[in-house]
Amino acid sequence: MTKRKELSELRSQRWFASDDMRGFAHRQRTQQMGMRRDEFMGRPVIGIINTWSEMSPCHAHLRDRAEAVKRGVWQAGGYPVEMPALSVGEVMVKPTTMLYRNFLAMECEELLRSHPIDGAVLLGGCDKSTPGLLMGAFSMDIPVIYCPAGPMSNGQWRGIKTGAGTHTKKYWDELRAGNITKDDWVDLESRMTRSAGTCNTIGTASTMTSIADAMGMTLPGASSIPAVDSGHPRMASLCGVRIVEMVWEDLKPSDILNKASFENGLVAYMAMGGSTNAAVHLIAMARRAGVELTLDDMSAMAAKIPVAANVFPSGEYLMEDFYFAGGLNALLKKFSHHLDLSRPTVNGKTIGENIADAECWNDEIIRDESNPVVPLSKGKTLEVLRGNLAPNGAVMKSSAANPKFLKHVGPAIVFDDPATMNKTLDNPDLDVTEDTVIILRNAGPVGAPGMPEWGNLPIPKKLLKLGVRDMVRISDARMSGTHYGTCILHVSPEAAIGGPLALVKTGDLIELDVAAGTINMKVSDEELAARRAEWKPTARIYERSFAALYQQHVSQADQGCDFDFLSGPAKVPDPVIF
Ligand code: FES
Ligand code: MG
Repeated sequence: MTKRKELSELRSQRWFASDDMRGFAHRQRTQQMGMRRDEFMGRPVIGIINTWSEMSPCHAHLRDRAEAVKRGVWQAGGYPVEMPALSVGEVMVKPTTMLYRNFLAMECEELLRSHPIDGAVLLGGCDKSTPGLLMGAFSMDIPVIYCPAGPMSNGQWRGIKTGAGTHTKKYWDELRAGNITKDDWVDLESRMTRSAGTCNTIGTASTMTSIADAMGMTLPGASSIPAVDSGHPRMASLCGVRIVEMVWEDLKPSDILNKASFENGLVAYMAMGGSTNAAVHLIAMARRAGVELTLDDMSAMAAKIPVAANVFPSGEYLMEDFYFAGGLNALLKKFSHHLDLSRPTVNGKTIGENIADAECWNDEIIRDESNPVVPLSKGKTLEVLRGNLAPNGAVMKSSAANPKFLKHVGPAIVFDDPATMNKTLDNPDLDVTEDTVIILRNAGPVGAPGMPEWGNLPIPKKLLKLGVRDMVRISDARMSGTHYGTCILHVSPEAAIGGPLALVKTGDLIELDVAAGTINMKVSDEELAARRAEWKPTARIYERSFAALYQQHVSQADQGCDFDFLSGPAKVPDPVIF
């Protein structure tokens, strides 16, 4: 039988049960909010960390969902308290939400630690909110359930299925090529995104929520429920019921997570055809949980698990279709022989028990391993490349690239900043062909700072008009998971700290061999040494603000981009109450 905590063992009791002046103040001030003494005394206090914001359309429904969670908490005998946290809404935050992921992780951890919280439901979903909230929760290590915001409803434009991000990029290229008009573009603007919720493609949001689900941190299958489906508030209220039980059971992230749980997450990541961004987040999350996880672990999993979710950008459907086809549980069941079915999950059952009865209703959308969307011989969810251009690694998603570029040699055209790049690539007389390799640098964690999603470098306008839609592109930036193309990303070490990417020059030959896992510039070691002697950093360095803290403490992409003082599983003691 599971051990149950006594009321006196709950951390909230240090605030509420003590018979001194501080205890009086905590009880008095809670009653100041109109709570009766019996509504909070003797009950587990459940924090609802809410990343709702009117600057985050993906989270527009999370105020309502917090109410659903509260309903469940009350029903189960807990006391729910909602606490706002940074929304990190991917669309509006500039230069990039990645600059703030660690900030959200800190905020989540400190909100949980500094307040009388016994367990928490984390409301997030838009890209960085999932790793941010989970990193904080893993470090705090009290019972938590992740309640994913869920994908937005299917998009349609003039009878064509449109996916957030994927089709924005596609039609932007068509507009630049002159194939659609300005009026078409404006019309598209109001029709593509039909509801609250995260991107309906397999961008970073659904990648990360599916991984969290497979790792056991959400209710089973929660990541696939569309944001505005009536099943979504029902799931949220169940999170509220269950978290109260988890507090009594003392079921913490450290009881759920080990290397095998992360590997279960990797199975979901690869089978979903997930975003390259997950490669950074997973390393950071694993380190918080005390698990050793490397880029090579991920590429090894990618070499075994083909893309089976037929969803943009690797496939042709959207997350709502995926849900109707059976969702993540159905997908995981098809790959169950790759999973450690014995891993526990937040609902108190093993992942094996949770998916045992899952059914697939559409084998075209959720493919069998023997009939994948992209066979392993044609492309993978994640490739890790190394060479004299990226000694510590770079990543790409070959399943969403044009296969003809996967073995390629071409001359580089190199840019130090995105503004110059954009202007130059629109020049009709630019000396480029589709064999040219476009490079952007100083866009990494320190250089940008924050490693923005600039890595889907634009195709030169003159080539777009000739019908070119893909080229080899290299950067130390990241790329939106909703995008596609032969984009080599996360080059490490980055240019701003003197990585070899800083030494490449326009005209150098770049050699990409994805099958061999290599990315090299054909420049001699002597010549590179001479260039290094001349190299001066060009990145903008911040004197103050969060960006300054970030630049001083962030690790490189292959190490997860966490801060040096936050990474690792060390626990911080509970606050002194005096
Ligand atoms: Fe929020 Fe894509 S912009 S999930
Ligand atoms: Mg995104």
